[in-house]
Amino acid sequence: MNRREFISLVGASASVSIAACNSQSANVASDVRADGFEVVGTVSELDKTGQLLNENLAVGKALVIRDPANANQAIAVNPTCTHAGCNVAWVQDQKAFVCPCHNSKFTSDGSVQNGPAKEPLATYRAKFEGDLVLVSS
Ligand code: FES
Repeated sequence: MNRREFISLVGASASVSIAACNSQSANVASDVRADGFEVVGTVSELDKTGQLLNENLAVGKALVIRDPANANQAIAVNPTCTHAGCNVAWVQDQKAFVCPCHNSKFTSDGSVQNGPAKEPLATYRAKFEGDLVLVSS
C-alpha cells in the first residue's frame, strides 16, 4: 500500500465513524418529544418484573416503578446510587430501592431510608400513556 492509498483508506474510515456518531446523536435528540417526555419502554415490560430500567435515555438512566401508593401513577428515579455509583433496584417486599453494593435503601420518592448513602436519588417526572412509560427531566 502506498501513501496515497493509505490516506484514502484512513479518510474513508473517518468519514464512516463521523457519520455513525452523527446518526447516533440524531436518534437521541429525536426520541425526546416536543412535550419533553421520552419513552422508557412499555407498561407490559414494567409489569413483567415490577420495574423498568433504560440506561440510554437523553435524560440519563431511568428506573421506573408503579407508585406503591397509587398503581396508576409512575415513579422514575436515576438508579445511580449516590454513595458510590452502583445501580439500585426496586425490591417490592421492602417497598424500597436497594443498592446491591453496600445496602443503602431509598424510599419510592428517592429519599434515603438507610445509608451509607447520604443524598437522595435523582428523580424524573414519569407517566403512563397507553402502553408506554414516559419520563421527562
Ligand atoms: S454504592 Fe450504593 S450503597 Fe454504596
